Amino acid sequence: MNVTFPPVRRLTGELTPPADKSISHRAALLGAMSDQPVCVRNYLDSADTNSTLGALRSLGVVCEQRPDELLVRGTGLRTPAEPTGTIDVGNAGTLMRLLPGWLAQVPGAVFHLDGDESIRRRPVDRIAAPLELMGARILARNGRFPPFAVHGAQLHGIEYALPVASAQVKSCVLLAALSTDEGATVIEPSPSRDHTERMLLRAGASVQRDGDRVTVGNVDELELDELVVPADPSSAAFFVAAAALVPGSRVALRDVGVNWTRAGFLRILKRMGARMEGALEEPGTLHDSEPTSTLIVEHSSLSGTDVGADEVPLAIDELPLVALLGCFAAGETVVRDAAELRVKETDRIAGVVDGLRGLGADIEATADGFVVSGNGGLRGGRIDARGDHRLAMLGAVAGMASREGVEVVGMEAAAVSYPGFRDDLESLVG
Ligand code: S3P
Repeated sequence: MNVTFPPVRRLTGELTPPADKSISHRAALLGAMSDQPVCVRNYLDSADTNSTLGALRSLGVVCEQRPDELLVRGTGLRTPAEPTGTIDVGNAGTLMRLLPGWLAQVPGAVFHLDGDESIRRRPVDRIAAPLELMGARILARNGRFPPFAVHGAQLHGIEYALPVASAQVKSCVLLAALSTDEGATVIEPSPSRDHTERMLLRAGASVQRDGDRVTVGNVDELELDELVVPADPSSAAFFVAAAALVPGSRVALRDVGVNWTRAGFLRILKRMGARMEGALEEPGTLHDSEPTSTLIVEHSSLSGTDVGADEVPLAIDELPLVALLGCFAAGETVVRDAAELRVKETDRIAGVVDGLRGLGADIEATADGFVVSGNGGLRGGRIDARGDHRLAMLGAVAGMASREGVEVVGMEAAAVSYPGFRDDLESLVG
């Protein structure tokens, strides 16, 4: 579906962005691993998070969607049912990488996982390596890609240094740690989102963070009763960027998750000169909850910035928006150490660079990022979402801030994380 987003005069008003995708996946999964029913309030209704419910149902978990809550009746930590067919993870990388951390704990059981065309290009060797060190076996196509099979085992503990900062891989190992006698430690090259640690702590598991090390111990049972999912800072980021870019704008975004491991984009934007109100969480000790704030963002004149290894994992899904902001900022905006972008739903370095260049940007790809020279904004034109939800929404925001508007090819991809995106965007344009 092609949709054209013309330039707008300004964005004003307020809204609550949809629920956090990362936290929703984890809430359903930890609910599935619990013995008692878990009530999840504000579970995200999107293609990705519905894939998680479908996968869990095929494992014998009951997921009841009620008007204002999701009730998950789990099977307990070590007893997912062995489904007769393949578990379909759809387009959801987080589901594909976290679920095996649970499945690998079932000795003798075999689970087959597969997904859509995009998921088949996304590596699973990064979870296979630690799970095999723990005693499971993972058989993947070409040793690396879906479809793949998880052969469960009685797992043993490890100390595992992540080759790249990845919350998905970290989470997979921490979930697998729950049934090991010794527990498992993950060492991160730099911090990544910590929703799994917070939720496990909340569920009564032993979780310890010490510098770059996080350790999870053995537990008999996860104890959760209710979880409330905050609004997704990655979805909010599209409106944050739109308000910062379009002159005359002032937008308030309610209940947005401001966990410091997710707020990298907001810190980058502030450094670029954006006027923004709303308290962000400071790094510190591990909490068992997720902080939220109302963010108020106004149009601002921006200057270019440098983003490197320490910030990349904390803003990984928002880096396409950093490129867009860079087109409007004075001077150069550089993102480096972000080769991970090449293995997201699409190669997001190629998608962003080709896409924005087609709209008039002065942008070059590097092996691990991009360099943008601000040249007074964007002309407009046409951008291909390449089936990637974040590229589709990037194109929409680019159109609103451009001089001539942008036609997004494949706008339907937004439904992966944000089915109501266009309506919400229109409500701010009035
Ligand atoms: C996610 C972690 C990130 C992020 C993805 C969601 C998560 O991926 O890009 O959209 O929920 O853990 P990596 O763990 O691969 O960095």
